[in-house]
Parts: sequence; C-alpha cells; structure tokens
Amino acid sequence: MAEAESRQSWGTRLGMILAMAGNAVGLGNFWRFPYQLGKWGGGAFLVPYFAALFLLGIPLMWLEWTMGRHGGMYGHGTEGPMLYLMARTKVSPRSAAVWAGIGGMLALGVTILLNSYYLHIVGWTLGYAYLSATGDYMKSNISTAQYFANYLQNPGLMLTFWIIALLSLGYAVGRGVSGGIEKWASFMMPTLYVIGLILIVRVLTLGAPVKPEWSAIKGLDYIWHPDWSKISFQSALAAAGQIFFTLSLGMGIINNYASYLKPDDDVVLSGFATVGLNEFAEVILGGTIALPVAFAYLGPEGMGSGVGLSFISLPNIFRDMSGGQFFGALWFLLLFFAGWTSAVAMYNYLVALLEEDLKIKRVWASIAIFVVYILAGLPVALEPILTKTSDLAYLTEMDNWIGSYFLVVLGLVEVIVGAWLFVDRKTKKPATWKEMMRGSFWPTLPQWWFTVIMRFVTPTYIIILLVGTTVSYFKQGYIRIVPSFVADKPQLVPWVNMARIALIIVFILGFIEAYYAVRTKYAEEIKQNRVLVEK
Ligand code: PHE
Repeated sequence: MAEAESRQSWGTRLGMILAMAGNAVGLGNFWRFPYQLGKWGGGAFLVPYFAALFLLGIPLMWLEWTMGRHGGMYGHGTEGPMLYLMARTKVSPRSAAVWAGIGGMLALGVTILLNSYYLHIVGWTLGYAYLSATGDYMKSNISTAQYFANYLQNPGLMLTFWIIALLSLGYAVGRGVSGGIEKWASFMMPTLYVIGLILIVRVLTLGAPVKPEWSAIKGLDYIWHPDWSKISFQSALAAAGQIFFTLSLGMGIINNYASYLKPDDDVVLSGFATVGLNEFAEVILGGTIALPVAFAYLGPEGMGSGVGLSFISLPNIFRDMSGGQFFGALWFLLLFFAGWTSAVAMYNYLVALLEEDLKIKRVWASIAIFVVYILAGLPVALEPILTKTSDLAYLTEMDNWIGSYFLVVLGLVEVIVGAWLFVDRKTKKPATWKEMMRGSFWPTLPQWWFTVIMRFVTPTYIIILLVGTTVSYFKQGYIRIVPSFVADKPQLVPWVNMARIALIIVFILGFIEAYYAVRTKYAEEIKQNRVLVEK
C-alpha cells in the first residue's frame, strides 16, 4: 500500500526512546505523584504502586506498543483502526468496526479534553518559569496564593503563555515525527534529567533553613517512612490510577508513537526502557524534589499542600531560598519540558487522525488542531476570569472523568481486543505474543507471562479498578447532578455542566469518526463481512 510506504518514521532508536519517555514523563510525575505519595502513607503507597506497575503498567505498555506497531504496518496511527485490525481476526469485520468506534470515541475524548486543561497547566509552568527568572513574584508583596489567583484571573499573562506553548507544539508537530517531535524531545528530555539532578543536589544541601527539626533530609525520611495504616483498597485504587496516568496508558498516544516504528523494530525492550525512564523521573526525581523542599520550609504541614504545591507553596519558598530566582526558574522549566513532551503526543494523535482519515496535509492539520485546542481550552481559561474564582470547577470535573476514569475504560477495551480477540485466523490461537516478540531484543521473556498476566491478571485488575473507582465516585458525591465539589458554589455549576456537555459531544463525534473511518477504509471487507486485506 502506498500509504503505508510513505508513512513517517522515527529517525533513530535513541530519539524514538526519548520521545516515548517524553510522552510518559509529564506533569503526572512531578506534580501528581508527590501529592499521592504524601496522601497515601509515603513508603506504604509504593507497595500497591509497584504491584500496579508490574501487573497493569508493564503489560499494557507492551500491548500498546504491539497494537501501535501492528496498526502502523497498515498505515494507521489511531486507536479505532488499530482495534479493528485486531478484533476482526476473531469477530466479524462488522462487529470489529463497533470495537473501533468505542476505542476511537474514548481516545478522541482523552486527546482533546485531557489536553484542553493540561495545555493550560503547561502554559502556567512556562509563565512561572518566566516570572521566576524575572523575579516578579519575589518582588511582589501579596501572598503567593493571591498571586496565583491573579495570574488566573488576569487574562494577559495566562493567555499569552498558553498560546506560546500551543504555538510551539503546533510548530513542532507540523514539522513531522522525526523532524519535529523527535528533535525537540532529544533536546528537552536529557535537559530535563539534568535539571532534575541539579535540583536534587540543591534540595539535599538545603540544610534546615527554618527550624532545626525541619531539614530536607528529614523531609525525605518523613515522606518515605511507611505509614502502614494508610494501605487500603482506596490507596490501591489511587496507585493503579497513577500508573495509568503516568505511563500515558489508555490514551491512544503510546500506540500512536509506536505506529511510526518499522514492522520488525523491537517493542519489548524499548517499551520496558520507556517504563524505566518514566519511573526514574517519577520515583527518584519526582519523589525527591518538591516535597522535601516544602518540608524544609513549612514542616509536616507543607506536605499536605496538594494541588497548590507547585504554584503556591513552592513559589513562596523560592522567595526565601538563596538563589530562589534561579532554582525557581529551573523548577518551572523542568515542569514545562515534562508537560510539553507529553502534550505533543496528544497533539500528534489528532494530527494523525486528520491526516489519515480526512487526507489533510500535516501542516494544515496542525493548524486545524491548534484551533480545536483553543476552542476546547476556552472554558478553562474563561471560568476564573468570568467568575472571579480559582476553583477551576470545569477542570476538576474533566479531570475526574477523563484524567482518571475513561483511561481505565480504554485500557479494558484494549486488553479485551489485544489479548483475547486478536488471534491467528487459521488456528484461532492467540496471536498477541508472537506479534509482540517479533524483533524482540529480549527473546528470553517467558511466554507463561503473557498467558497468565496479560490475559488474566491484567484484565481482572482493571475490572476491579473500574468497579472500585465507580463506587468511590458515588460515595464522594461526584455522580450527582450537582457534584459535591461545587455543592456550596452555585455559580460554578454551569461550568461543571459545560464540561459534561463537551464530553458527550466529543464522545459522539469520536464514535462516528472512528466507525466511519473504518467502514470507508475497509469498505469491501465490511460489505462482504470477511477479512480481505492482510499483511
Ligand atoms: N503521562 C503523562 C503525564 O504524566 C500523561 C499525559 C500525557 C497527560 C499527555 C497529558 C497529555 O503527565
């Protein structure tokens, strides 16, 4: 097929691995992880965390690489057609098209809507890198909480940095996979690790600037000291959710990057390397920087700062710290690189969709997606300005569903199709293992691992996670017409409803798009309802 031959590909293996690591390493590592760690008992959180890493994270990572490379052979870089190709080996092409619709719907939901608010946070990090470097919030005498509220409510800065971030993303994606994304990641990712190490050295040499019993090292001890009483079903759910988010699973973006591999490129060792690079950034860098600093300056109370940690507590500390201007700028630059290299993967997913399904040229597709992201991000930008609040209700509602729930649903769809419906058409035996091991640099990986973990343990784990999360959403009052977090703020209710409407619209569009894309690409096959196109 001419389409597949002219398909883009990665320039070098190293560049590809860095781009994949960039995809996974994001704000989840530096902002979400420390917060979860503090909340769920420090060291004790790591038990369910590593269980989820091995039983959910690694199997799904391999599955998504395998699906992606397989889809790429047929010229597809998006979730719908990838699921179709695998499902049709067991079920009829017409039923397979329905799986495509469901997967395409969920992936479009994530890539448009998760990024709609994530891009704002990426913009904030760039804005704060600038404001640290210029020393702006150090000079100002209002509290950093008020400063942040002003940042959100005064459109000037906030919109400027958001648009700069988006323009740079659009530009990179427009340059192509190896010419744009890979180049930028090859610079940003090594720099990110270097900045992370510099910050660790700074943190560990802070001493005890405020009280002798609050040193950064004692902070580390405080964080990692396992509080076993906090291990619970709830903490296991949080840990599994964190694994999904941090490894970019259930989003369609790992598969998309893997679709630019060559048919015989290794996926096993490379997928494993992605996990390793992400976990280093998360557990070592993410776990050592923000919280110990907060402890050194604010004591145990600083640990509970949650969402405000990066943009409120830390700026306050940079005000006091010697060299705070410099280290503050480095910290926000690190966040910016982390967020940028993840957001670009979502951007590219949507560009691939326009390229492959509507035959729009990459540069035009990048411009179109720029517009889509501006529109999708408007509610997040307008809510603080129009309501004069900083509660971010639209963002919270979107994150509850898109950033924490539907990823898991897509993960389930992928295991069902990838590990159960993908079979050898002649023998009807599972074909996933063989597909995954083609070209593998890790040939000794035992096959029982696939049979036991990927086919049974992982799906069971995901189902428990889904049921558990649903129950806990009920209990927390998220599944109400007026969800609990805006119950006493009636002026924010319309913003929550807007998030819900956006979600429903994007889901409907996503289903229709993927379903009809498959029906058009495989028209003859679907008409006769039997497999005709095979490689
Ligand atoms: N793994 C990413 C992170 O940790 C998840 C993500 C990817 C989020 C792309 C948004 C956009 O932040």
